[in-house]
Amino acid sequence: MKTTKACLFDLDGVIVDTAVYHFQAWRRLANELGFDFTEHQNEQLKGISRMESLELILKWGNVSLSEEEKIDWATRKNAWYLDLVMQMTPNEVLKGVPEFLKSLRENGIKIALGSASKNSRLILEKINMIDYFDAIIDGNNITKGKPDPQVFLLGAEATNCKPEECVVFEDALAGVQAGKAGGMKVVGVGDASVLTEADFVISSFEEMTIDRLF
Ligand code: BG6
Ligand code: MG
Repeated sequence: MKTTKACLFDLDGVIVDTAVYHFQAWRRLANELGFDFTEHQNEQLKGISRMESLELILKWGNVSLSEEEKIDWATRKNAWYLDLVMQMTPNEVLKGVPEFLKSLRENGIKIALGSASKNSRLILEKINMIDYFDAIIDGNNITKGKPDPQVFLLGAEATNCKPEECVVFEDALAGVQAGKAGGMKVVGVGDASVLTEADFVISSFEEMTIDRLF
């Protein structure tokens, strides 16, 4: 029996690769504060909120700031990030994504976004993908970040589906854990040796077909 009625997509690293822009902007912040961090460390920032990312980066640099200074630096980082986002084009949508979303639509499966980002609408507009989404749940709607399931539970609710009728697509371990904690099937997008808790892992949406949802 077909039970999947909605697909819930993370944004960064699933629909589009913004991690490179986050890295550039966070690195600039670190450099201005007098230290640096690696691309490998940047992996740990995937899926977590802006302020959680800042806390981790400051820990790496052994820098302590007041709450007010933290907000100032996070605001500055976001402005640098948005400068890069403003230059994004639809060419940056990850391979196979538009084709898969089209096939979901044709099969009557709802599509929602479940992202930690507060910039998700702007990004979806820049890459010309916003019209695919029936619902957008992002950093502006949530009080608890991944691995808490809140973002995906709100996505299920917004599409009028039960958690067990939803399939989550995630590139970050915290996101995979959030989907599983919400009682959903989770498809990992990326490295199977990292996303071990996913039901199965694809390296690209070119490998994904509707029948794998059920
Ligand atoms: C997630 C990214 O999708 O969004 C994280 O994986 C990022 O790296 C988080 O920190 C918050 O994004 P933003 O756009 O609100 O700063
Ligand atoms: Mg992601």
